[in-house]
Amino acid sequence: MGDLKIDISDLTPFVLKDLSQRELISRIQKISSMLTQNREVISTSDSYIFDEEMVSAYTLFYLPSNIPKLFFLFNKLPKDFLEKILAGRFIDYGSGPGTFALAVHLFARQNNWPVGSTFAVDHSSLMRKQAQKIFDGFNIKISVLDGKNLHNLPTQATLFFGHSLNEMEHSQIDKIITELNPQNIIFIEPGTKTFFQKLLKLRNYFHELGFNSIYPCAHLSKACPFETEDNWCHQIVRTTLPSELSRIADLCKLNRKQMPMIAHVYSKTDSLNNQKTLVRYKGESKFSWEWLSCQSEGEENIIKEFSFFKKNHKGHFKDEFTYKRIFDKLSVGDRPQIEKLNEKSDGKWDVKLIKLQI
Ligand SMILES: C[S@@+](CC[C@H](N)C(=O)[O-])C[C@H]1O[C@@H](n2cnc3c(N)ncnc32)[C@H](O)[C@@H]1O
Repeated sequence: MGDLKIDISDLTPFVLKDLSQRELISRIQKISSMLTQNREVISTSDSYIFDEEMVSAYTLFYLPSNIPKLFFLFNKLPKDFLEKILAGRFIDYGSGPGTFALAVHLFARQNNWPVGSTFAVDHSSLMRKQAQKIFDGFNIKISVLDGKNLHNLPTQATLFFGHSLNEMEHSQIDKIITELNPQNIIFIEPGTKTFFQKLLKLRNYFHELGFNSIYPCAHLSKACPFETEDNWCHQIVRTTLPSELSRIADLCKLNRKQMPMIAHVYSKTDSLNNQKTLVRYKGESKFSWEWLSCQSEGEENIIKEFSFFKKNHKGHFKDEFTYKRIFDKLSVGDRPQIEKLNEKSDGKWDVKLIKLQI
C-alpha cells in the first residue's frame, strides 16, 4: 500500500492555534531539539505538551510526517495478522495529537478493511483536545482518554506506542502492560542507539511475559546479534513528502524523507519465527548488491551476508530497469522473499530476490 499524503493545509483547520509560517518553523525547531534530548529526564514543566502553539506545531509537522512510518511497518506484516489486529481493539498509548490512531484508520480505509474499537490515550490535556479535533475533522470515531484509570481501557487489545515508550520509565510501562494484559504490542520509536539500549531490555521483558516476535526479530528466545556490537538495529523509512510539508522540513533543516526508526511487533497469540530481515546495506558492486540480513540459525540469531547477483535477476524481472528500480527501493527493515542459491566458502549466501515483501 502506498503512503497516504496529508499536507499541512489539510490539518490547518483542525489545530488548536493558527500559526504563521515563522511561528511554525521556530516551534518545530524547538520541539525537535526537545525530542532529541534524553526524554525520561526532560523537565515536564517546559515540555511541548503544555503549550497550545507547540501542540499545534507538533500536529502540523510530526503527525503527517510520522504516518508513513506506520504504513512502512504494516506493509511488512502478514495480511491476516494485520486484518485481525485492525478489526480488534486498538490502543494508541501516548497518542499525542492522535497520529497513529488516525494512521490505523487511514490504512484500513485504503484497504477497505473494517476497524474495531480504537482508543487514543495521552496524559496531556492539550494533546487530547488536539486529538479530538483531528478525529472530528477527519470524521473518525476514536475514544480519547487520559489513561489515569486503566480500567477504562480494554484488556486483550493491541497496545501501540508511538514515540512514547521513550518518554516512560520502565515501571510505568510495566504497570500499563500488567494491567491491560494486551494480546499484541506494537511500537514505533526513535531509531537511535539510546532507544536501542532500552529496547534490548524491553525485548527480554516481553519474552518473559510470553510474547512471540512478529517483526523484526527472527527469534525472541535467542539473543539479538547487535547486543554485542557497536551498531544497532533499526529501520529506515524512505518517503516523499507533500509539497508544503517538504518545504517546511527544508526550512527547518530536518530530514523527514529518510527517517530512522525502531519499530517492533510482538504477539501472545501469533508467532512468525525465522523470518529474514534486512539489517544493513553494504553497497552495490558491478556484479551484485550486498546486504546483511538477521535470521535464526541453530541456537542463535545471526547476521548473514547476502549477495544478490545481477545476472541472477535479469530473467526474473521484466527488464534491467525494473529490477534495478526494485533494488533501489530495498530498505533496511524490509523482509523480502528470497531464494538461497548457493553458500560460498566464506559463509556468504548467494540469493535471489523473489518478491519485495513476505
Ligand atoms: C513524542 S509524542 C508522540 C505523539 C504521537 N504518538 C506521535 O508519534 O506522533 C509523545 C506523547 O506521549 C505522551 N506521553 C508520554 N508519557 C505518557 C504517559 N505516561 N501516559 C500517557 N501519555 C504519555 C506525551 O504527552 C506525548 O503526547
